Amino acid sequence: MLSLPTLNTNVTEPGTLPPLAVYLETYGCQMNVYDSELVQSILSSCGFETATSVEAADVVLMNTCAIRENAHRKIYGRLDLLRPLGRARTRAGRPFVVGILGCMAQNLKDELFDHPMVDLIAGPDNYKSLPTLIRGAITSGEPRIEAHLSEYETYADVAPIRAAGVNAWIAVMRGCDNFCTFCVVPYTRGRERCRSVASIVDETHALVENGYPQVTLLGQNVNSYRHEGAEFADLIRAVAEVPGIQRVRFTSPHPKDFPLSLLSAIAAHPNICKHVHLPVQAGSDRILDKMNRTYTRREYLALVDLVRQTIPNVAITTDVIIGFPTETEADFQETADLVREAAFDNAFVFKYSEREGTVARRDFPDDVPPAAKTDRIVRLLDLQHAISKKKNEARVGQILDVLIEGMGEKRDDHQFGKSDGYQTVTFPATGQPTGSLVPVRILRATQGGLHGVGVGESSLGPRVASE
Ligand code: SAH
Ligand code: SF4
Ligand code: F3S
Repeated sequence: MLSLPTLNTNVTEPGTLPPLAVYLETYGCQMNVYDSELVQSILSSCGFETATSVEAADVVLMNTCAIRENAHRKIYGRLDLLRPLGRARTRAGRPFVVGILGCMAQNLKDELFDHPMVDLIAGPDNYKSLPTLIRGAITSGEPRIEAHLSEYETYADVAPIRAAGVNAWIAVMRGCDNFCTFCVVPYTRGRERCRSVASIVDETHALVENGYPQVTLLGQNVNSYRHEGAEFADLIRAVAEVPGIQRVRFTSPHPKDFPLSLLSAIAAHPNICKHVHLPVQAGSDRILDKMNRTYTRREYLALVDLVRQTIPNVAITTDVIIGFPTETEADFQETADLVREAAFDNAFVFKYSEREGTVARRDFPDDVPPAAKTDRIVRLLDLQHAISKKKNEARVGQILDVLIEGMGEKRDDHQFGKSDGYQTVTFPATGQPTGSLVPVRILRATQGGLHGVGVGESSLGPRVASE
C-alpha cells in the first residue's frame, strides 16, 4: 500500500530518496530461496538496507510460488494480514510498498493489483529492475510491474548474499522446456538456459574458501543442463573435483535425463551424495502419457534398477501426484504398486491442483472428487511411511557420515545433520562444530529419521584435490 505524504512526489532521482529498508519473505522451492539471495545482493548493491521485521520495513517483498493453489492462498492470506500495518503507515505518512516477486507474480501478472495491498510486481527474470521499480513506485505513488520472461537471464554476474549455514545453493540452469501437462513452471520460469561450467566451478572455489562444506546444484530440471558441449555429468564431475568441497548435491532432476555417464559420475566421486530424487508422478502408463512425462512405468522401474546397480547404497526419493484428471482406483493401485516395487526411501505426495495456463487445465476437467483424492493420498502416505520406516531400520548398526547442521531443536545437548542419503540424523553433541563431517553409528530408527552416536574420525577424512 503506497502512502507518501512526507516524500516529495516530484522527486525522480533515485539518489534523493533516504535509504529504504526491505523485508523479504520467501515461499516455494529451493530455487526461490536462491533467487531471494540474488535479490538481497541486487538491492544491497543499490543502497537498500535489510529490515528484520515487516514493522521496521519501508518495503515488504514476497518471493512467491505458484505450483499448487494453496501456495496462492497463502500469499493472499499474508497480504490480508498486512492491511492494518498499511493503514497505520498511511496515517503516519510513512512509505510502505508491498511487492510480489517469483512464480505467482509471473503467473498472475497485473491481476495481482486487484489486491489493494500490492504496489509492485516483478517476475523471476526481472530482479535486476527491482531498485528502479521500488524507487519508481515510491516517487510516483503509482504501482510498478515488470514480468516478462527472458531467454538469456541466468544472473551469473550477481553474487548472491547467502544465508549462513552448511549448504550453498548454486542455480546452474533456469527454466523448464518439458511442459508436463499439470505444471505451471514452464510458464512462470520460461525456457531452459544454463550457466557456463567455468563460472559454476569458480563459484564453488569461492564457496570453499568461505567455509561452505556443501553445494547443491539447482535447476527446475537440473540434469537437462547443457552448455557448449558439456552435459550435467561433466558439470557435476568438475564441481566435485574442486579441492575442499566435502559434499555435492543436486535437485530437481527429471527421469528422462539420467544417462549412465551421470550415474557413473555419482558412483565414482565419494563427495557426490548417494541420493537421487527421481520424481515419478504416477504409476499408470495412461496417466503418465496424459501428464506428458515421456517415460513408461517399465522404463521408470528399469531406471530405478540401473541407479541401484550403478550406485551401491543409494537413497532414492520421489514425487507423486494423486488425483490427476481421469485417475481411477485402478490407476491409483498401479501407482501404489510402483511405490511398493521401487521401495523409495521417501516420497512427497501431492493432490493434483489445477493450474492456470496449463494443458491439463485446458483439456482435462479436474474430475477426481476431493474425497477420493484425500482417501488415496492417505493410503499412499501410509504405505510410504511403512516403507521409509523399514528402510531406516535397516540402517541400524551402520556407521554413516553425517554433515552437522546445528544443535538439536528439542535437546540442546544434541546435534543433528544429514547423512549422504539425506536422512536426518540426531546424536549427542560430539564437540565438532557445525559444518563438520562426522561418522555416526546408528542406534535407532523411526519413519522420519535416525538416531545414533558419534564414533571418531570420518571414513572420508579430509578432502583432497586428487579425489
Ligand atoms: N522439475 C521437477 C518438479 C518441480 S515441482 C520435476 O519435474 O520433477 C515439484 C513437484 O510438485 C512435482 O514433482 C510434482 O509432483 C508437484 N506438482 C507440480 N505441479 C503440480 C500440480 N499442478 N498439482 C499438484 N502437484 C504438482
Ligand atoms: Fe514442471 Fe515437468 Fe518441468 Fe518438472 S519437468 S518443472 S514437473 S514441467
Ligand atoms: Fe514454486 Fe516456482 Fe519453485 S512455482 S516450486 S517457486 S519454480
